[in-house]
This record gives sequence, C-alpha cells and structure tokens, in this order.
Amino acid sequence: MPQSFGLAGRAYLITGAGQGIGQALALALADEGANLALADLNGAAATALAKQCAAKGVRAAGFALDVRDAAATEAVVAAAEAAVGPLMGAVPCAGVARAAPATTMPEEVWDLVLDTNLKGTFLICQAVGRRMSERGAGAIVTIASITGFGGQSGRANYAASKWGVIGLTKTLAVEWGRFGLRVNAVAPNAVDTPMIRAGVPAEFVTGVMEDRTPMGRIAQPSEVADAILYLLSDRASYVNGSILPVDGGLTAGFLTHRSGAEMALKR
Ligand SMILES: NC(=O)c1ccc[n+]([C@@H]2O[C@H](COP(=O)([O-])OP(=O)(O)OC[C@H]3O[C@@H](n4cnc5c(N)ncnc54)[C@H](O)[C@@H]3O)[C@@H](O)[C@H]2O)c1
Repeated sequence: MPQSFGLAGRAYLITGAGQGIGQALALALADEGANLALADLNGAAATALAKQCAAKGVRAAGFALDVRDAAATEAVVAAAEAAVGPLMGAVPCAGVARAAPATTMPEEVWDLVLDTNLKGTFLICQAVGRRMSERGAGAIVTIASITGFGGQSGRANYAASKWGVIGLTKTLAVEWGRFGLRVNAVAPNAVDTPMIRAGVPAEFVTGVMEDRTPMGRIAQPSEVADAILYLLSDRASYVNGSILPVDGGLTAGFLTHRSGAEMALKR
C-alpha cells in the first residue's frame, strides 16, 4: 500500500488496539510505516496484533493495560517509548458501552463507562502529552462519538463520557497548543466493530442507525482509521481542537433519512 500521510518511522501508541477501531488503526499505521505500541485490557490480543504489524516491517510491541489505572498507564507509556522510540502521538481507542435506563443504571455501570472512556482517555493524554510537550511536537486524536453531540436513550453514561471527551479534547488543544502539540477528536457514527455487533440489536442498526444516515450505512473501522491518520499527520498541521464527524452525514441535518431527499421532493 502506498504510504501517503508521512508517518513512516514515527512512533504511536494506541489503546484498545485488541479489536475494532484500534485494531484497524494499528494495521493502517503499520501500512504507513509507523512504529507502534499497542495496549489493551486483552494483552494477548495486543501482542498478537503487534506481531502482525511487525510482519509489515515496522517496530511494534504489545502491552496489557487497564486504562483506568493511572500507575499502570504511566508504566506502559514509559515501556512503550523504550520499545518503539519517543512517541509522536497517541490514539486512546479503549472504550466500552453498557446500556441501561437512567432510572435504574447501577453505579458500577456508570463508573465502568466513565472511568474507561473519559478518565482512561485523560490518563493516556496526560502521560503521553507530558512527554511530547517536553519535546515540543506531537499529535493526539481522541475518540468521541456522534453521541457526544446529542443524547441517546439508555446511554446516559456513554453520552456523558463522550461529551466529556469532547470537552477534554478542546481543553488540551487550548492548553498544549503552545507546546507544539495538536489534540483533535473524531466523532464516528456507528462503526461495524464487536462493540456494535455485541451491544446493539441488529434491527436498531438497520432500522434506525442506517435509516437516519444519509449515506444509508454504518462505517467500516478503516474509514475511521483513515480520518485519524489525517489528523495525526502534518497534513493537519493547523488543525487543533477540532471534532471531526466521521458519520456519513448523520449530523449534517435534523430531518435526515436515507431516502429523505426523495420524500422531501414529493408533492
Ligand atoms: N463502534 C462504534 O459504533 C463506535 C462509534 C463511535 C465511537 N466509538 C468509540 O470508539 C472506541 C473503540 O470502539 P470499538 O467499536 O472499536 O470497540 P470494541 O469493543 O470493538 O474495542 C474496544 C477495545 O477496548 C478494549 N478495552 C476496553 N476496556 C479497556 C480498558 N479498561 N483498558 C484497556 N483496554 C480496554 C477492549 O478490550 C477492546 O479491545 C470507543 O471509544 C468507542 O466508544 C465506537
């Protein structure tokens, strides 16, 4: 595959690399020639993926990590730099979704989602951002969601975590721009990963998610990865604090429907 984003030889850390968006991103970055530190709660999956990436000719190392643990995060970031070199960026993809009605959502379900998606993102940004700001260069891309722009029934915890990720991303962009760092987010619509396949009924995916999306389909993980490659690269050298929807047009309008254009034109 042609290397098109100028990332060859640079080192990046991805959390949640064991499957889904993080996995697709790792493979795309390896194709670009980037060296990779891959972390996941599922350490075996991260290590297996590191081997797969190394087979493409880059340096890659896998780590077991629970992103809710600050001390472990600091240790993995240090080990990552020892293994693959000074980081030029990080993409905290580790995330979970657990649906429950707000009236009965157990405290531990709230905590799991907020601690993983929001605190886990912050801890990675802090550990990597501290090092990159001392060196004066780097880019972070966080993973928000279209659920960071609005609410979703049964997802009080998830929506709060993603609104939080957006606030965190903008704040770090403001705070760290002067150190030569850029911090942006992608906000995907539904993406065809284990998270969606395991956590969302198929009829909701086709009947609501695809139906409300002007492009009439959910995203493939590689389509989110490509947007992240751009934001990591110098092609986005003046893009800082942006939240990039990768959503097939879902948030472009309110009265959307995949056949909405035809319906609206009917008389
Ligand atoms: N799939 C979607 O539709 C979608 C849409 C918008 C945003 N997102 C976001 O994208 C990110 C990745 O989602 P995905 O669809 O690839 O999910 P996924 O469930 O397929 O993969 C998530 C990965 O994160 C890891 N993980 C979970 N908790 C962890 C922890 N505490 N420490 C370390 N690793 C942990 C899992 O082991 C898994 O490998 C998440 O932040 C998610 O909220 C997903």
